[in-house]
Amino acid sequence: MSKQWTTEQEDFLTTTLAKVQGKFSAAVKRNGTIIPYIPFNGHYPDMAQENIHWWTNGFWAGILWQMYHLTQEEQYLVAARYQESLLDGALNEYEKLDHDVGFMWLSAAVADYTLTQNPNAKTRGLKALQALASRYNPTGQFLLAWNGPEQQGQMIIDCLMNLPLLYWGTKETGDPRYGAIATNHAHTALRYLLRSDGSVNHIVVLNPATGAFEKSLGGQGYGVGSSWSRGQSWAIYGMALAYENTQDPAFLAAAKNVAHYFIANVALTDFVSVIDFRAPQEPVRYDTTATAIAACGLLSLAQHVPPAEKTFYQTAALKMVQALTAKFCDFEPATDGLLTHGSAKYHGDVDQEVPIIYGDYFYLEALLRLLGKDLKIYEKG
Ligand code: GLY
Repeated sequence: MSKQWTTEQEDFLTTTLAKVQGKFSAAVKRNGTIIPYIPFNGHYPDMAQENIHWWTNGFWAGILWQMYHLTQEEQYLVAARYQESLLDGALNEYEKLDHDVGFMWLSAAVADYTLTQNPNAKTRGLKALQALASRYNPTGQFLLAWNGPEQQGQMIIDCLMNLPLLYWGTKETGDPRYGAIATNHAHTALRYLLRSDGSVNHIVVLNPATGAFEKSLGGQGYGVGSSWSRGQSWAIYGMALAYENTQDPAFLAAAKNVAHYFIANVALTDFVSVIDFRAPQEPVRYDTTATAIAACGLLSLAQHVPPAEKTFYQTAALKMVQALTAKFCDFEPATDGLLTHGSAKYHGDVDQEVPIIYGDYFYLEALLRLLGKDLKIYEKG
């Protein structure tokens, strides 16, 4: 979705995209055969060696497919296909998969299939689809997030982003059960994960046998009842996607409510999100990945509102991308990691204010969306 930007705004977007292209053109030559996550001393270790099942392992493929869609350069296609073959190592170990098969294979195999109709990619996407659908609890009407005995009954806000794999499954197979699972899960999320003021819980525990609500957990945020900013951004984007696939006005209203809450909070910190909007004000620690994801969510949402409302969401998304670009981007082609100051979670000393691969992915997607040049990985396309 492109908007008519002012000349100055258009210049900002095209200049930034040129720098991003320089960064990823160097990165694909250096990292074409590894799976990146967080750089160490400016360079990525290989997640294919360290943990092939890690939930972020599809985002580099997503970047490569976006870059291939933008440039048609063979180097991106070759590297993206290689990522898919590496990910087969995870797909073949069913018991280690969790709900994030959506993030992993939407960005890799399904993106490939969408762009090139590669039949092997379709098969991989269908296998991931089965793995996700098998996590459905029909009594509680939710998808189980993780596998441990202590994690039974847990559903999490992030999972809204995995639902497009189920909607894709219904489109590809004609079997309505996949889409129905997605829609039921989104309704359960609406009921238990979203709060009336526009903030969200990260994790809730539902009784696995009865589906009854038991408790909420702080998860990756500051604590129970707080407001983990990346959870907020997953909710904006995820609810906009649920609306796109169902046209149910309850999902659109939810996306708008969370979006308004996010914009109000991020405006207090110059349009870059802190890790948790309800953590103590000091120390100030950022999670730029939440800002990038929210920008994508706002632009997705903007497609579904009347013309008079669109500018608000589009302008907020532009301001976020401008703020990230001004202070939190490393455009140097020789180092790995583009978007700095991403934080995996609130507590702990590691993975705080560092480049994280999904930050790079969603920053790129937001920039391309603002220019009307993005590949639809989460949307229907
Ligand atoms: N899906 C996990 C996270 O956002 O960290």
